[in-house]
Amino acid sequence: MPEHGHRPLEGRVALVTGAARGIGRAYALRLAELGADVAVVDRDLRSFAEVAAEEEAAGGRSTDEAVTGLGRRAVGLTADVTDPGSIEAAVDEAVAALGGLDIVVCNAGGGSGSMADSLPSSATAEHVGTVVERNLVGTISTCRAAARHLRGRGWGRIVTVSSLAGHHPFRDGGYSVYGAAKAGIAMYTRSLAQELGPEGITVNCLAPGYIATGRLSAMFDALGSEQLRDSVALRRFGTPDDCAGALEFLVTDLGAYVTGAVLPVDGGAMP
Ligand SMILES: NC(=O)c1ccc[n+]([C@@H]2O[C@H](COP(=O)([O-])OP(=O)(O)OC[C@H]3O[C@@H](n4cnc5c(N)ncnc54)[C@H](O)[C@@H]3O)[C@@H](O)[C@H]2O)c1
Repeated sequence: MPEHGHRPLEGRVALVTGAARGIGRAYALRLAELGADVAVVDRDLRSFAEVAAEEEAAGGRSTDEAVTGLGRRAVGLTADVTDPGSIEAAVDEAVAALGGLDIVVCNAGGGSGSMADSLPSSATAEHVGTVVERNLVGTISTCRAAARHLRGRGWGRIVTVSSLAGHHPFRDGGYSVYGAAKAGIAMYTRSLAQELGPEGITVNCLAPGYIATGRLSAMFDALGSEQLRDSVALRRFGTPDDCAGALEFLVTDLGAYVTGAVLPVDGGAMP
C-alpha cells in the first residue's frame, strides 16, 4: 500500500499480463491503489485456484474484482500471450473498455519443468520452444500490441519482467533456457526504450530474485530454505509487494528520467 496516500496515477489506464495471481496480482493492485484503472489479463483469470496459499490470499476474488473493490475501474480479459492474435485482441478490448492505455506491465511468464529438463546441454527443442514463447515471445507480442495505442500520447510506461536467472546462472546450469529467455527480455527492453524514448514512453525491466509467492514458497522449502536465504544479502525472500514497490518507482514520476534500465529486485541475491 502506498504510504503517501495520494493517487499519482489517477486518470491513467494500466494493463498487466499474468495478473490473476502471484506478483502480477500485486502489480495490478498497487497500480489501482495509485489511482489507475486496470485491465487484468491472464490465460486463466482464476489461476489462483491452482495454488492453495494464493487462493486463500485472494479470498475467492479475482484480481479485477479486487481492483473494483479499491474503487477503480477494471476489466478482466482472458488471453494467452503466446498467441499474438489473442493478446492483440485483449489489448484492443482493454482500450475500448477503459478508454485508452498508458501503462503496460508484461509480467506473464515463468519457467517450465524441472532443473533436469532445462540443463543447457540437453534441454529439448520442445522445452526451448515452450519457455521462449511464454517469456520472450509473449513479452514482444504484448509490447507490439500495446505500442500501437501508447504512441502519439506523449507519455507512457512499459515495464517488462526478467529474473535473477536472466543475469546469473544457477548451480550446475539448471533453468538455463528460462534464464536465456529472461536475458533476452532484458536486452529487448533496452532496444524498445531507444525506439520509444522520443515519444515520451519509458521502457524498463524488473528482475526479481527469490519472491515468495504462494506457488514458489513450497519450492523454496524443497530447495532448502535456510541455505537459499543465506545467499541473499538481506537474508530474507522477497514478497510480491517488494516487486510492486519497484514498479511504483518506474511508473510514477519518481522514475520519469529512467529508461532502458534493468532493475534487480532480489535483496542482493548471489545464487
Ligand atoms: N516468483 C519469483 O520468484 C520470480 C522470480 C523472478 C521472475 N519472476 C517472474 O515474474 C513473473 C510472475 O511470476 P509469479 O511467480 O507471480 O508466477 P505465477 O505462476 O504465480 O503467476 C503467473 C501468472 O501468469 C499467467 N500466465 C502464465 N502463462 C501465461 C500466458 N501464456 N498468457 C497469459 N497468462 C499467463 C498464469 O496463469 C498466472 O496467473 C513471471 O514472468 C516470472 O518469470 C518470478
